[in-house]
Amino acid sequence: MSRIVLITGANSGVGFATAKVLASASEAFHVIICARSLEKGNAAKAEIEVSIIKGTLSAIQLDVTDEDSISAAVAHVEEQHGRLDVLINNAGISGIHINNIKTRFNSVLETNVTGPAMVAAAFRPLLMKSEKPYSLFVSSGQGTLVRNAARNVTVHSHIKSGGVYVLSKAALNMLVAMEHAQYGPTGLKVFAVSPGFVRSNLRGTSEVEISGWGGAMDADVAGEFVLSILEGKRDSDVGCLVHKDGVFTW
Ligand SMILES: NC(=O)c1ccc[n+]([C@@H]2O[C@H](COP(=O)([O-])OP(=O)(O)OC[C@H]3O[C@@H](n4cnc5c(N)ncnc54)[C@H](OP(=O)(O)O)[C@@H]3O)[C@@H](O)[C@H]2O)c1
Repeated sequence: MSRIVLITGANSGVGFATAKVLASASEAFHVIICARSLEKGNAAKAEIEVSIIKGTLSAIQLDVTDEDSISAAVAHVEEQHGRLDVLINNAGISGIHINNIKTRFNSVLETNVTGPAMVAAAFRPLLMKSEKPYSLFVSSGQGTLVRNAARNVTVHSHIKSGGVYVLSKAALNMLVAMEHAQYGPTGLKVFAVSPGFVRSNLRGTSEVEISGWGGAMDADVAGEFVLSILEGKRDSDVGCLVHKDGVFTW
């Protein structure tokens, strides 16, 4: 029986790499690639299928800010699979290129916090039908209160998003803590995941931005880390903000 994994924002960066790593790791995975447009989702699926994969893939449209889109995705998964084993709330934006403060805060919080909250609530009934459900939220070590309060967080000097990106990840971390407290006792394994500083479109689409001004790792590193969580290797850290080498203090 396949392990059904749904990843939001899986057409690029961390989400794409995670879909590729999981599908390449085992025939046990069926990965549902979610993208804001079906065209982007299908293109990502086709790109992964070019390489040697063991698992299976499908693609659906899902905009995490659109309730109708979320409902349609839930209905699709229910009809096709009857349950969900792993939900990866990965989609996110940095807001770097949005100049107006109100627009930037509203857009980033809607995508990075309200969206994952809606997606998690909508898919929870299907997750609860799984024998071994995992709910992962892709967060960031940049969003920890302790590191920011101590002013020793490694803020890349080029990233000027007026604080809203880290603020959104701090709020997401609280969502994770609440989700873990409420649903952990029912068997849901909830994690906040810090994927590391990896190549993606988060900072922009020029090579210099994708590469994080030269400092970003290959996104497959994040995919391998997520795989290790789904293999149960980090079960002792359930309910925490985990990174590949340990756990961050909130
Ligand atoms: N890259 C890093 O170094 C890093 C570090 C820490 C945390 N993260 C986190 O990793 C996650 C993935 O980001 P990434 O770095 O891989 O950036 P990315 O390459 O820009 O990927 C973000 C994905 O989210 C999608 N997305 C944006 N808004 C959406 C919406 N409203 N509904 C559905 N999908 C939406 C994007 O779709 P489009 O292609 O249509 O825009 C894209 O597929 C984010 O939560 C980010 O905060 C990344």
